[in-house]
Amino acid sequence: MEKIRWGILGTGSIAATFAKALNSLDDCILAAVASRSDVRAQEFANRFNINKYYGDYNKLAEDPDIDVIYIAVPHTGHKETTEMCIKNGKAVLCEKPFTINSRDTEKLISLAKEYNVFLMEAMWTKFLPASIKVKKWIKEGRIGKVRHIKASFGFYSEYDPDSRLYNPSLGGGALLDLGIYPITYTTFFLDSMPDKVISSAIIGESKVDEQNVIILQYGNGVLADLSSGISAELGYDAVIAGEKGVIKVNKFWMADSAILYDNKHNIIDEFNEPFKTNGYEYEAKEVNRCLREGLLESPQNPLKDTLDIMKIMDRIRSSWGLVYPGE
Ligand SMILES: NC(=O)c1ccc[n+]([C@@H]2O[C@H](COP(=O)([O-])OP(=O)(O)OC[C@H]3O[C@@H](n4cnc5c(N)ncnc54)[C@H](OP(=O)(O)O)[C@@H]3O)[C@@H](O)[C@H]2O)c1
Repeated sequence: MEKIRWGILGTGSIAATFAKALNSLDDCILAAVASRSDVRAQEFANRFNINKYYGDYNKLAEDPDIDVIYIAVPHTGHKETTEMCIKNGKAVLCEKPFTINSRDTEKLISLAKEYNVFLMEAMWTKFLPASIKVKKWIKEGRIGKVRHIKASFGFYSEYDPDSRLYNPSLGGGALLDLGIYPITYTTFFLDSMPDKVISSAIIGESKVDEQNVIILQYGNGVLADLSSGISAELGYDAVIAGEKGVIKVNKFWMADSAILYDNKHNIIDEFNEPFKTNGYEYEAKEVNRCLREGLLESPQNPLKDTLDIMKIMDRIRSSWGLVYPGE
């Protein structure tokens, strides 16, 4: 069977991580990379053994020998670059957050339908074997009815108004970059939308949220207590508590393990499976599978889920009055 031909758009930190994952898979080839600069494109191509490089994103989108493009630019560039790739008939795996707001997400979803191309948000956490195992434990009733989910994702990053994390022109702030993980994790397990969304944020000097807390309340009596931050070490763990037991996941967004306890703190089950490469191979494999099967979206990460998460984040931002430039 012919190998799926990937292109990477952008040459930053996550592009490099994903390139390693692609290079570890047998059924695809990392065939081209594009940067805004020829020099950076060439350096990246040399580093990851890529045959073709372009100093212009558009050239990658137009390359007829590419099947699918991975978008790895800052949040505010996702819409424009994904749109360009779709219009050139390319399948797209776009980094999270899919776009800045749900309106743009809706536009990309319709465009992909119009052009009949595959589209998926690169929410890699949903494809990790540990996440899938936790979901299975929940579905099998191992912790009984879920009552409460607690998850945080926050680290200290020195204030730099030009950086991707603090710059509003690049979609900075904790919610879109990190808060999306606990929200997605919760939604992934509960398979429903919250009835109530309550939140509070500290908006910093550069006018983005440096810290936030979010409460999601579901009609069936489940509460989620979530937080994210870029100016403090909040931790990275998740707890899913049910009436019969509790599941704990360290570094949940990149977990390769999880522990299931009963309500007396006895370990009942454990999952531990080191990544084959770096954890990004699982989402890449899913894209390859979908393309081979002619699917236009992944059943494991459908576009409806992506849109639901964007809608929750819109609601949260609107309660803070946080609007990005150009919105
Ligand atoms: N899934 C994950 O685990 C994960 C982890 C980290 C980040 N991400 C997501 O991936 C995206 C990129 O994050 P990153 O950490 O890789 O960022 P990064 O290291 O800053 O790299 C972003 C790249 O995008 C390109 N770019 C295009 N327009 C740019 C602009 N105006 N300013 C800066 N760079 C620009 C640059 O490549 P060229 O100059 O070569 O074109 C740059 O190297 C973000 O949306 C982020 O949320 C996901």
